Amino acid sequence: MRYENVLATIGNTPLIHLSRIAKDIPAQVYGKVEAYNPGQSAKDRTALYMVEQAERDGLIQPGDTIVEATSGNTGYSLAMICSMKGYRCLLTVSSKASQEKLALLKAMGAEVVICPADAEPEDPRSYYSQAKRLSEEIPNAYYLAQNFNLNNTMAHYSSTGPEIWKQTEGKITHYVCCAGTGGTLSGTARYLKEQNPDIKIIGVDAYGSVLRKYWETGEFDKSEIYSYKVEGLGKTIIPGNVAFDLIDDFVKVTDRSSAHRARQLAREEGLLVGYSSGSAMQAVFHLQEELKPTDVVVALFPDHGTRYLGKVYNDDWMKQQGFLEHNGEPINDISYQRYRKIYRAYRMKYKRYLRQTLRSIS
Ligand SMILES: Cc1ncc(COP(=O)(O)O)c(C=O)c1O
Repeated sequence: MRYENVLATIGNTPLIHLSRIAKDIPAQVYGKVEAYNPGQSAKDRTALYMVEQAERDGLIQPGDTIVEATSGNTGYSLAMICSMKGYRCLLTVSSKASQEKLALLKAMGAEVVICPADAEPEDPRSYYSQAKRLSEEIPNAYYLAQNFNLNNTMAHYSSTGPEIWKQTEGKITHYVCCAGTGGTLSGTARYLKEQNPDIKIIGVDAYGSVLRKYWETGEFDKSEIYSYKVEGLGKTIIPGNVAFDLIDDFVKVTDRSSAHRARQLAREEGLLVGYSSGSAMQAVFHLQEELKPTDVVVALFPDHGTRYLGKVYNDDWMKQQGFLEHNGEPINDISYQRYRKIYRAYRMKYKRYLRQTLRSIS
């Protein structure tokens, strides 16, 4: 294939049958492998769409500065797009981002401002606040704001959704997707639900993030927030791109199980994918009791594993986290959904016991 430039190669990523890791799951399970994008993540789609929409709206022109708060992947995609289109790229990045990710951003010509991961969003030191401030201080600067810019969702509505629909010949029954800004989940889900409203949308969230609780109760519960390791997954704010009404179930996964699933994808499927891809895979395992052989499950794998060589794919890091006990076997965490099932079973058992006791003493 011959392309005009690297940007023309964004999208049309493969859907790969996961015949080994998912062999005991009673459904056909596929991975939508976004590492095949030139910037090795789904964020190529988002960044390109947001920049080109801003151009179409007359908000930016070459020579301007594009500012963004990013955990790394959007930054890499933006740096690539900015260098191709002639923009200055200025990124505020969480201190949680891996060294590999930071090196990549710099290699692509981006300027990087590192901000403390534990600073609350309203804190002037946070990567959101600093991006906003810089975009106001620098002349001809434009803040893309991927959490609230609905063109993030549109990117996936116009590309990822149609691709998955076509690749599964309309047979997809379950779409499993990590939620960060929510763009990948919401855009794809909206397109798929428009084709077939029965398709189940399963969001994936991290322990330490506020999204699942907000979906379940409508409450922004600060007590849900604590630091966790998976990058890109979950949020400590409610982004405008999460279409909560499209989500049929929201599964929480742990750092540990996500790490083991990512490693298992590499070993068993030959797919060196990122940490949150392990989260999506773990969420498929949470679903398995609900699945049947005719179901077609698509899990979206957001990025490439090379960005995590110092973390998930490094045994020393895994040991430091305490993730390599139990002979490195995956340890199933308990999703809320399962927890509820177990709780209900206990409650029924207890009620039965109570009834029997009352009967015996009456
Ligand atoms: C590695 C990774 N996984 C998942 C996500 C979540 O995707 P989205 O922001 O579209 O919800 C991101 C977003 O930055 C990411 O970088």
